[in-house]
Amino acid sequence: MTVDTLLYEGKAKKVYATDDAEVVKVSYKDDATAFNGVKRGQIAGKGAVNNQMSNLLFTYLEANGVNTHLVEQLSERETLVKKVQIVPIEVVVRNIAAGTFSKRLGVMEGVDLPHPIVEFYLKNDELGDPLITDDHALVLGLATSSELAALREQALTVNRLLQAKFAACQLILVDFKLEFGKQSDGAIVLADEISPDTCRLWDSETRKKLDKDRFRQDLGDVEDAYQEVFARLTAIS
Ligand code: TMP
Ligand code: ASP
Repeated sequence: MTVDTLLYEGKAKKVYATDDAEVVKVSYKDDATAFNGVKRGQIAGKGAVNNQMSNLLFTYLEANGVNTHLVEQLSERETLVKKVQIVPIEVVVRNIAAGTFSKRLGVMEGVDLPHPIVEFYLKNDELGDPLITDDHALVLGLATSSELAALREQALTVNRLLQAKFAACQLILVDFKLEFGKQSDGAIVLADEISPDTCRLWDSETRKKLDKDRFRQDLGDVEDAYQEVFARLTAIS
């Protein structure tokens, strides 16, 4: 039996080589971190939920014209994805004030923004993923200006599609983070994951938080919240 070579271990996933140089295998862990790794724990069953939920959403986005890294789900926790070079920019879209937006700008959590906004963060845990401007991204050589424009446009397209999907299962998409990857041919595709780790999702009726804020803020019922989101999505898909 051959053992797959571990290429990379992140906070929530492991990435393994496969026989195909253009494809890697991602294995989702139950490990949870917050505040750039300062708070650590486990969320039982999270890996399986995030893997399957992310694949469900990437399949939906692909069907609506968004190119992603998804190749094929292998098991509850494992998926084959295209090997890409991750663009070191975390792209955050916000519809409602929460999290660092509220803290940084003094806007109460829950306030509707007049229109969705896109923010860029440098993907660098040691620096605490700082917020960056377009000029910062350009002078650091993280992306070209046309790539930045494409990231912004793709993120807003994903926002429209995800808002509709989540609204259909009585969830409000407050904000989320996307990562993009560059294929060997230079094409940029949506990568990483879309899950309650990377989105803020509130119940439409009660506004109960059903995402990683339950872990970040010690609100309890963390596992149940992840399962609830996945159950609602599978019920309508
Ligand atoms: P923030 O309010 O902490 O800046 O987070 C905005 C959104 O991005 C929220 O849905 C959580 C998500 N996010 C990640 O997925 N990974 C991260 O490292 C951070 C900081 C936020
Ligand atoms: N994903 C980041 C971390 O692990 C931050 C967060 O989600 O709050 O630390």
